[in-house]
Amino acid sequence: MSNATIELPKLYDSAADFMPLLGTDYLELYVSNAKQAAHFYKSAFGFQSHAYRGLETGNRELESYVIIQDKIRIILTSPLKSGTDVGKHIEKHGDGVKVIALWVDDATYAYEEAIKRGATHYMKPTLEEDESGRVVRSGIYTYGETVHIFVERKDYNGLFLPGFRKWETPNYNPKSTGLKYVDHMVGNVELGRMNEWVEFYQNVLGFAQILSFDDKDISTEYTALMSKVMSNGNGRIKFPINEPAEGKKKSQIDEYLDFYEGAGVQHIALATDDIIGTIKELTSRGIEFLRVPDSYYDVLAERVGNIDEDIEVLRPLGILVDRDDEGYLLQIFTKPIEPRPTMFFEIIQRKGATSFGKGNFKALFEAIEREQELRGTL
Ligand code: FE2
Repeated sequence: MSNATIELPKLYDSAADFMPLLGTDYLELYVSNAKQAAHFYKSAFGFQSHAYRGLETGNRELESYVIIQDKIRIILTSPLKSGTDVGKHIEKHGDGVKVIALWVDDATYAYEEAIKRGATHYMKPTLEEDESGRVVRSGIYTYGETVHIFVERKDYNGLFLPGFRKWETPNYNPKSTGLKYVDHMVGNVELGRMNEWVEFYQNVLGFAQILSFDDKDISTEYTALMSKVMSNGNGRIKFPINEPAEGKKKSQIDEYLDFYEGAGVQHIALATDDIIGTIKELTSRGIEFLRVPDSYYDVLAERVGNIDEDIEVLRPLGILVDRDDEGYLLQIFTKPIEPRPTMFFEIIQRKGATSFGKGNFKALFEAIEREQELRGTL
C-alpha cells in the first residue's frame, strides 16, 4: 500500500463514485484464543507474523496478532478479561469475522456519507497517531453484528496501525502457501433479507449488483439458497450475499444462521496464482477440504472444455473447475475452521473467469449436505 494517488478505473458503470473504496484493508476475526489461532494460520495457511498488541503494548483489555500473506492482512483478537464486547461477540457467535475493513482516502467523508445514506453508526471518525504518522478510522454496521471500518492511512508509514508493535518470531516462520489477496467475501443473511442488504450496498456504499442466482440455479434435492453478488466500482471488493430458500430440508445457510446465531461472514475467498501448489501445501499442513464424488472428474473435460491443468492432477486434490464467457476458474472449499459449522475458506485461481463457480454449486452443496447429515443438522 502506498500513499500515491490511486486511479480507480470504473469496471461497473452503475456503481456510484460517491464512495471510492481502494480495496480491502484488513479483516479482523474475534476468536477465543488469538495466540493459538495465529499459530494455526501460520502453520496451516502459511501466514507470516506481523504485528501485536496486548499487555506488552499497554492494552489491558484485548490481545491481537496481525498475520499477513502477500496482500492479505488478518487481525486475530481475544479478550484479556470478562465482560468485553469482544468476549460477548465470541460467546454469542463463536469465532468469526467482526470487521471487514475498507481502505479509503478519507475516513471522515466515508463515514459521514454512509451515515447520511442510512448506515448504522459503529465508530465515529477517530484519529490514532504514533511516531510513524496518523491514521483515521471510522465504522458502520453491515449484516448481523459485522462491521465495516473505513481506514485512512495516507499519512501513515508505520507497520500496521498505531497501537501495534512488530511481532517477531525468529524461530518459527513457516513458508507461504501462495495465497495472494482476498478475492471475495460472502455474507449469509436471514430468510427474506437478501434484497435489503443488496440495497444497503447500493445506497450506502455505491456498489452495483453484478450477478444473481435464484433457487433454480442453486438447489439440490433437499436444500436451496439465493445469492446476489455486489461489487464496488473498481471491482476490487466483491460481496456475494446469500439467503436461504425454502427446501425439503434445512439448507447450509440455515445451519450457519442457527450456529452463528445471526447473519455473518460465511466464507473468505483467497486467491492464488498456483492452486495446485497451494492445495498440495495446505493439504499436507492439515487443512481439510470438501470433497465432491469422483464422478465429477469423469465428466469435467466435457463440461469445461480445454484447460491448462491435467484433470488427473486435480482429481486427487479435489480442485473444482468452472467456465464462464470470459475464461475459467479453479476453486476448492475448506471445511469450517472452528467448532461451530460456520465460517470456512475458499481458495480460488482465476484464469479469465470473473464469476463464482455456478457450475460447481450443485456438486458442492451435495457435499455440504453429506457433512450436515453427519452433524445431524440437515
Ligand atoms: Fe466464493
